Amino acid sequence: MNSTNAKGGGAARKGAPSLDMTNIPRHIAIIMDGNGRWAKKRGLPRTAGHAAGAETFRKIAKYCKRLGVEYLTVYAFSTENWKRPAEEVGAIMKLLEDYLNEAIVKMRKEGIRIKILGDIQGLSPKIRELIRKTEELSQGMEGCQANLCINYGGRDEIVRAINALSEKIKNGETVTEEMVSDNLYTKGIPDPELIIRPSGELRLSNFLLWQCAYSEFYFDDVLWPDFSEENMERAIIAYQNRERRFGGI
Ligand code: FPP
Repeated sequence: MNSTNAKGGGAARKGAPSLDMTNIPRHIAIIMDGNGRWAKKRGLPRTAGHAAGAETFRKIAKYCKRLGVEYLTVYAFSTENWKRPAEEVGAIMKLLEDYLNEAIVKMRKEGIRIKILGDIQGLSPKIRELIRKTEELSQGMEGCQANLCINYGGRDEIVRAINALSEKIKNGETVTEEMVSDNLYTKGIPDPELIIRPSGELRLSNFLLWQCAYSEFYFDDVLWPDFSEENMERAIIAYQNRERRFGGI
């Protein structure tokens, strides 16, 4: 077993089980939860929690890149999050804008290319233009792909796929799983082997409903802004100790 404690700059813990570098998930998905509670605990506005959460995302994306994770998908803004106060929605959109602006400059150097998953028509023209630019720059780039789910909902994604296929159905074609997958935002991206939710909540909240069919789930009590390389390492080790049977025995 080629194992190491987070080879490449991670958090080595004496005596702790180590990562098997030959069995790193290709695709890890994370529900970045707990930003609001993190801020409240510190007497800060919720928006400060989101800013800290965006920093954690930067750090964890770099760590995933070092580990050789090919896809990191994070839930940044759901189709339901529009119900939040306008100030909070605005702050999250500004963090996204800052991140995209930064990615345009640093993407090649950091080797993390960006893709946005979700209904971008619902976003501002400024953000849509930044998304267009970052995705254009990402084309043909190797490295880890960070998928940011923005204005994303798992049910909405499936409904869109059904509508996209409706003409074929009307024409009597039989719909296959592959046809559905090819009409999701994640087209061409392998399903996540591992889905992580920090902050102690034990639900999926409309995230990757189709893609999670055989994902392993990992829950951690830590709030997202405090999620460290060490937490990530523990999640991957837990995944490596699971037996995946995909319906077989
Ligand atoms: C859930 O925590 C978090 C969100 C709804 C927003 C996540 C957004 C970011 C981390 C910033 C996005 C930017 C980039 C660059 C990825 P919550 O607010 O529901 O926390 P709570 O349950 O403690 O209230």
